[in-house]
Amino acid sequence: MKVERITIRKGSREDLQKMPHMLMEAYRGIEEYGEKDIDKARRYIEGLYQEDPECFFVAEIEGEIIGFIFCNRFWYSKFEHSQVGAIHEIVVVPAYRHEGIGKMLIEKAMEALNSSKIELWVGEKNKEAIKLYENLGFQRKEKIGKWLRMVYMA
Ligand SMILES: CC(C)(COP(=O)(O)OP(=O)(O)OC[C@H]1O[C@@H](n2cnc3c(N)ncnc32)[C@H](O)[C@@H]1OP(=O)(O)O)[C@@H](O)C(=O)NCCC(=O)NCCS
Repeated sequence: MKVERITIRKGSREDLQKMPHMLMEAYRGIEEYGEKDIDKARRYIEGLYQEDPECFFVAEIEGEIIGFIFCNRFWYSKFEHSQVGAIHEIVVVPAYRHEGIGKMLIEKAMEALNSSKIELWVGEKNKEAIKLYENLGFQRKEKIGKWLRMVYMA
């Protein structure tokens, strides 16, 4: 697969329809960090979209959506005691992983967030995602229950 065939574009409300199913599929094997069922996934995705519709991007190949990211430019971090950028969810469908699409989506979100501080939470055993974030400059912070907070500082 050629990375040049991938387009990253702003997501629309119409695109949201596919997201819950993609989310459920993406968390197979790491269910403890995902949503319990498709209805919860629908509500979760809708909530993420409403937080900051301008900060929702999709990765597409020949018109097919194969990944997405939700971020928020106006997130208040209890841990930083200030407003920061936040990355809330990222998914790449299993068949297209390890090709750099996750990195492309995060870089797009970081550009849109345009913030000197970016926070995210990731499952502590989600090694793949943690490694990806570390490669992009995020640092491990607090562990709260099964979640690890990570922060990028420009
Ligand atoms: C986390 C997730 C989004 C990563 O997506 P991805 O597209 O596989 O990410 P990337 O390809 O950019 O990077 C992953 C790995 O592929 C490697 N890679 C990137 N381009 C590559 C290429 N052309 N050839 C081979 N490997 C490549 C990267 O170096 C990285 O490897 P590493 O982890 O050994 O360092 C994906 O695994 C996913 O959807 N997981 C389930 C949902 C989830 O956990 N989301 C995070 C919630 S916090």
